[in-house]
Amino acid sequence: MQASTILNGKKNETAPEEDSAVALVVIDGLEYMAREGERLVDLINRAGVKLAQVCYHPQLGPIQTCDTCMVEIDGKLVRACATTVTSGMKVSTTSPAAHSARQEAFDRILGNHMLYCTVCDNNNGNCTVHNTTKLLAIEHQQIPFRPKPYEVDDTNPFYRYDPGQCILCGRCVEACQNVQVNETLSINWEDPHPRVLWDGGSTIGMSSCVSCGHCITVCPCNALMEKSMLGHAGFLTGLSKPVLDGMIDVVKDIEPETGFGPILRVSEAEAAMRESRIRRTKTVCTYCGVGCSFDLWTKDRHILKVEPAEGPANGISTCVKGKFGWDYVNDPDRLTKPLIRNGGEFREASWDEALDLVARKFSEIKATSGPDALAFISSSKCTNEESFLMQKLARAVAGTNNIDNCSRYCQAPATIGLFRTVGYGGDSGSIHDIENAGLVLIVGSNTAESHPVLATRVKRAHKLRGQKLIVADLREHEMARRADVFLHPKPGTDLVWLSAVTLYLLENDLANTEFLQQWVNGLDEYKKSLAPFTLEFASRTCGLPVETLKKVAHMISEASSVCALWAMGVTQQSQGSDTSTAISNLLLVTGNYMRTGTGSYPLRGHNNVQGASDSGSMPNNLPGYQSVNDPEIRARFEAAWKIKLPAAKGLDNHEMVDAIHQGKLKSLYLIGEEMAIVDSNANYVAEAFSKLDFLVVQDIFFSFTCRFADVVLPACPSLEKEGTFTSTERRIQRLYQVFDPLPGSRPDWKITQDIANRLGANWNYRHPSEIMSEIASLTPMYSGVSFERIEGYKSLQWPVEADGTDQPLHYTKRFAFPDGKAKLFPLSWTGPQDVPNTQFDLHLNNGRLLEHFHEGNLTNRVKGIHEKTPDTFVEISPELARERGVQSGTWVLLTSRYGKVRVRALVTDRVQGRELYMPMNSTESPVNRLTSSRTDPTTHTPAYKETSVHMEVLAEIGDSPLPRINHRFGHPTPQHGVEVERKWKRPDYRSPGNQLIQIQQR
Ligand code: SF4
Ligand code: SF4
Ligand code: SF4
Ligand code: FES
Repeated sequence: MQASTILNGKKNETAPEEDSAVALVVIDGLEYMAREGERLVDLINRAGVKLAQVCYHPQLGPIQTCDTCMVEIDGKLVRACATTVTSGMKVSTTSPAAHSARQEAFDRILGNHMLYCTVCDNNNGNCTVHNTTKLLAIEHQQIPFRPKPYEVDDTNPFYRYDPGQCILCGRCVEACQNVQVNETLSINWEDPHPRVLWDGGSTIGMSSCVSCGHCITVCPCNALMEKSMLGHAGFLTGLSKPVLDGMIDVVKDIEPETGFGPILRVSEAEAAMRESRIRRTKTVCTYCGVGCSFDLWTKDRHILKVEPAEGPANGISTCVKGKFGWDYVNDPDRLTKPLIRNGGEFREASWDEALDLVARKFSEIKATSGPDALAFISSSKCTNEESFLMQKLARAVAGTNNIDNCSRYCQAPATIGLFRTVGYGGDSGSIHDIENAGLVLIVGSNTAESHPVLATRVKRAHKLRGQKLIVADLREHEMARRADVFLHPKPGTDLVWLSAVTLYLLENDLANTEFLQQWVNGLDEYKKSLAPFTLEFASRTCGLPVETLKKVAHMISEASSVCALWAMGVTQQSQGSDTSTAISNLLLVTGNYMRTGTGSYPLRGHNNVQGASDSGSMPNNLPGYQSVNDPEIRARFEAAWKIKLPAAKGLDNHEMVDAIHQGKLKSLYLIGEEMAIVDSNANYVAEAFSKLDFLVVQDIFFSFTCRFADVVLPACPSLEKEGTFTSTERRIQRLYQVFDPLPGSRPDWKITQDIANRLGANWNYRHPSEIMSEIASLTPMYSGVSFERIEGYKSLQWPVEADGTDQPLHYTKRFAFPDGKAKLFPLSWTGPQDVPNTQFDLHLNNGRLLEHFHEGNLTNRVKGIHEKTPDTFVEISPELARERGVQSGTWVLLTSRYGKVRVRALVTDRVQGRELYMPMNSTESPVNRLTSSRTDPTTHTPAYKETSVHMEVLAEIGDSPLPRINHRFGHPTPQHGVEVERKWKRPDYRSPGNQLIQIQQR
């Protein structure tokens, strides 16, 4: 249906965009085209008809708690939010009955909420209660405000709940139960004084709340507010409580005489004044690869709040890091002066001195040892534009392909697995496809903690839509506990059970033969390679019952569509590339590509790890995965850059470390990577760094890696620069500058340009948009990307054609191989390399925690996060703890073949038997002092997850490393959303338009 349908003699702006059955609806005498089955409230809003709707939020759907959206249809009062459109419907929003029902309903709301807007931090033009009071022209309350008998709950570091202001709309409950699906919130509808409850009645601080912020984001008033807003947003709200209370009393006293009108006008004037000092700037999260975007509200350098609303990946969703994890930007430890090593110490230097030194040393080393004695590592925290410049500096200025980024540590094997089988190295579709899948298979990913917002979509589809969930992992984490089938294979054996399930499907007529015939090459050879992978072999090797494997196979073959998600539990193994390939093979055999709800989703770890590789920070590829070996490709870049480019593949970051030890690599320029902590076998890496002739580290803090540097350059975090990030769903999004660079620091792209120019490059980029133009001109998969096309919340998912057409779902017409067909890739199994023996008898796994990112360099500086999760720990199973006499808080010394770490124990049934788990949120006791230099041979990705250790129990016993206020000790209360039916069953409830009774009135 076109948006230009003419009705009633005027252009109808309300016609829906999507193709669907057309409904003709009359609203207040005017005809509108609608979509059969759409929500009436959405049509009314599209039509521009002003209608109150306090509890309605399009991303929550109708929760029907407020009754303020009453309209009349065929003489009956109905809730517009809960009514679906049918053709011929005649709706009146203006009938006296509808009008008075809405007023009655809103009156009840005001009985729960005191209007003191002028001195309220939520008086920012977007308060639903304020705006509805105005819309309904309420002058006096019929039902007086009655405070509830509860105190304000202040026990979460990031937000507070004021029951006295809570209108019981239940939006927060719906968001927590059915969007975030943390299932912490409920309302005790049967109570004489209902309120929002955490874990059924705990304080917020002691509850299962993960501080994701969904509830605060959707709260239509000031009942739930970010603490960072309180006392900061308004001109008068910073006054002391007695003064504020006095002012609120004045407002209460004058209201009976003046009505709300003048009071609202004063508060609106104050709200308008706030606009002059509160800035709202769109940015993209700097933590994980989900790609959440939101507005940051700031007053000078103070962050008032993060407001997610229309981000294409996240909508109203965030996790604790995106919502509250920004203290580090204003941390007093930020580097603001370049530092130059002076013997064993560092001294401050001017930018000119530091940059001159960098350029001089690079030139000297190149002159004496050749360009390949230099190496460059870009950062997946930096923008696409910055990574592009870094690889250009390496190739076009220094003359080496020794350039890499941290995707080597995580995603390179997944990329290879997809290159082998389907042709593109990125996720097949979007988060939307994952949400739509009939079945989601998660392998080696703690999705709820590592990709929290993406996980919410799976949890939601599983809870509300009956999506099936199979999880294979070592730990029984949240997704595992929610799964229909949880597989706990022996460490490093995923390839075996995946291949066995695939063979079983092929042998039992459960494969999609039609799809295989039409779209897939290599079936015969692949089948031969599967011969060893019988269910019995898999059962013995993986420790999984044959019946369970059959069940998995049948669930996959019976599912309407399957998406496979995997992460570092797969890729950080010595057969990471092969296991990734096995997952893609399984999807091909079952026909799970080429349509929505299908495909492979290797979940990218860092915010821009996808983009860092896309932009060419790889030793073998120019931007857009164009091989450095290909003379035609090189010729294009050479023509554009007017320089001869090196043809041989350079060193990846794993090889760089070896080359330093061998004396071949003399200098390293490293942006934003805490490599001496996050690279595997960290002791070996640190030793290498101390051997370098010249190390430049560019970062925002003096990281552990900086200790080895000769020059440290102070860079800017994402909030202080412009550019683009590319998320796990290949989504390219713009971030806008929120703050000026902290004086003394500089955006990375400017620093790299300054170094290039000192080496004679003569670059003249004035803005990152110019760099993106160059990327687009040289990179076919980015050819249609420009800053204009992705303005604001607009985004593009690569490949993007020159005319701006993008591809949210890959392979809808063909696979990315010359004949358009996918390939089954034969595999064999070699098994993990570092397995437990009598000396190192325990398996050590490692990974992320929800609230910390990686080693914690950023999140440890967030006070609230640090308070709730102050330290690292090692998870020990209850059975092993009993055997070794360990309790939570016992100090243990873990020793591997590569190093030692002293750490406190946390006894938990998330791990089983002799398997340990250490999160990586520590620079003091980093797990990578224990991990090895063994790698996946195809990609050189370290086998971080294959580590065997010996555990010595030390005499010391401390407190539990996780304080009781950590959400992991809470007790969620799952229920079906807000459960408004329980409210309707109250004896004192009558629907508005009849005799209305306010539920707090007795
Ligand atoms: S988990 Fe906590 S912050 Fe997130 S929606 Fe639930 S109560 Fe709110
Ligand atoms: S706290 Fe929850 S129930 Fe209360 S007003 Fe806010 S969103 Fe509505
Ligand atoms: S860390 Fe990831 S899930 Fe959390 S807000 Fe940022 S992008 Fe979203
Ligand atoms: S908006 Fe319809 S019942 Fe609240």
